[in-house]
Amino acid sequence: MLSRKASKDSHGQDSSYFQGWQEYEKNPYHPIQNPMGIIQMGLAENQLSFDLLESWLRRNSNTMALKKDGVSAFKDLALFQDYHGLPAFKEALVNFMTSMRGNKIKYSSDKLVLTAGATAANEILMFCLTDPGQAFILPTPYYPGFDRDLKWRTGAEIVPMHCSSSNGFRITRCALEQAYQLGQELNLKIKGVLVTNPSNPLGTTMTKTELNHLLDFAIDKNIHIVSDEIYSGTVFDCSSTTGFTSIMEVLNERNNNNYNNIRNHIHMVYSLSKDLGLPGFRVGLIYSNNEKVIAAATKMSSFALVSSQTQFMLSNLLSDAKFIKKYMVENQRRLKRRKDMLVRGLRKAGISCLRSNAGLFCWVDMRHLLSSDSFEAEKELWKRIVCEVGLNISPGRLNRKRRRRIARCRRLRLNKNLLSGVTMVIDEIRRCSGGSSFSDEQRQK
Ligand SMILES: Cc1ncc(COP(=O)(O)O)c(C=O)c1O
Repeated sequence: MLSRKASKDSHGQDSSYFQGWQEYEKNPYHPIQNPMGIIQMGLAENQLSFDLLESWLRRNSNTMALKKDGVSAFKDLALFQDYHGLPAFKEALVNFMTSMRGNKIKYSSDKLVLTAGATAANEILMFCLTDPGQAFILPTPYYPGFDRDLKWRTGAEIVPMHCSSSNGFRITRCALEQAYQLGQELNLKIKGVLVTNPSNPLGTTMTKTELNHLLDFAIDKNIHIVSDEIYSGTVFDCSSTTGFTSIMEVLNERNNNNYNNIRNHIHMVYSLSKDLGLPGFRVGLIYSNNEKVIAAATKMSSFALVSSQTQFMLSNLLSDAKFIKKYMVENQRRLKRRKDMLVRGLRKAGISCLRSNAGLFCWVDMRHLLSSDSFEAEKELWKRIVCEVGLNISPGRLNRKRRRRIARCRRLRLNKNLLSGVTMVIDEIRRCSGGSSFSDEQRQK
């Protein structure tokens, strides 16, 4: 009954990523009403600083009443349907990005396309840059939603690029070349590389060296780079070597005419879903120096517009530079505190984590908890963590980690001691979120 396009399985609905969400929805944790429920940790959602946003809204009630200088803007907003977006909002967004990224680049509103979240921004870029059967290289591990966002409706393909835990999953020239080669073996024309910086799911920022490898590679192969920088404002450890560097900044440093072509091949994606914790508002963007891409993406954005009242409200919020600065600093401080707490708890339970400095993630090594060296064993462990421990996390396989990476695990059954190690962490999480701690007997009910 359905078209082949609609029933294509590249949506990934049956993956553990979405299955975990379904389990959570059947039995969601609540500190008082359902303290034994499943805690959702498989979704990159930032609820840490809602109090700050809500207090801003209380102080600026005119914004919610859709009033400008005391006069109702309702009629104008109700009728507004220009897919270029409200100029005041686009200006507020580029000023926000410029200042949040330390004024290293002056972003300009005429190079920006508004979209309903980064999901739509990534899909639109794939639509504009690939024909069916052409591919983008993605470093692994990557955000599981990309299978749906990049492939499902566009017909584009993903060629995974293997990054190794031995060098902290850094991008190397050799890994890029190998992925390119793999694309050729699969008969796929490589149109570009898509990176997430900071990384989902690693929570690490890319170094300038990595970004330069990427740029050199794209120049050599004459291909595009899409840089999804949706977590750029969540960097909580900003020393000179670990701070956030945008691909646009590295490009600007190559300030000469030889680089004009690559300038047109670099596109950035951003959204307010993570840094401001507003995924429900559906605000994202594409930023590109390429006029053709901007023109095509603007037309495509008709299918994924940001509503005018959301644009109105957020242009007021983002224009309050003093509040935004305070918010960003405080949000990063809270993220760091929460992450340190989680890492400490996991360490006590004998679980190590990748050192990270950004994002809403913790990449943990549970290989020693696997019963065998297989994806099936990983799935079995994941199911037990969701159903018995009450914690929805994402298995590494979902992020396209290659089988070989799991091969080093020891043959160790998930015994009671190990399970109780994991549950110690859960207890700590429940305690910190206001819930009560509970005993093994209670947990086994
Ligand atoms: C790397 C990355 N890109 C895009 C998205 C989608 O974001 P949005 O809610 O803005 O569509 C996510 C959400 O988790 C993400 O992690």
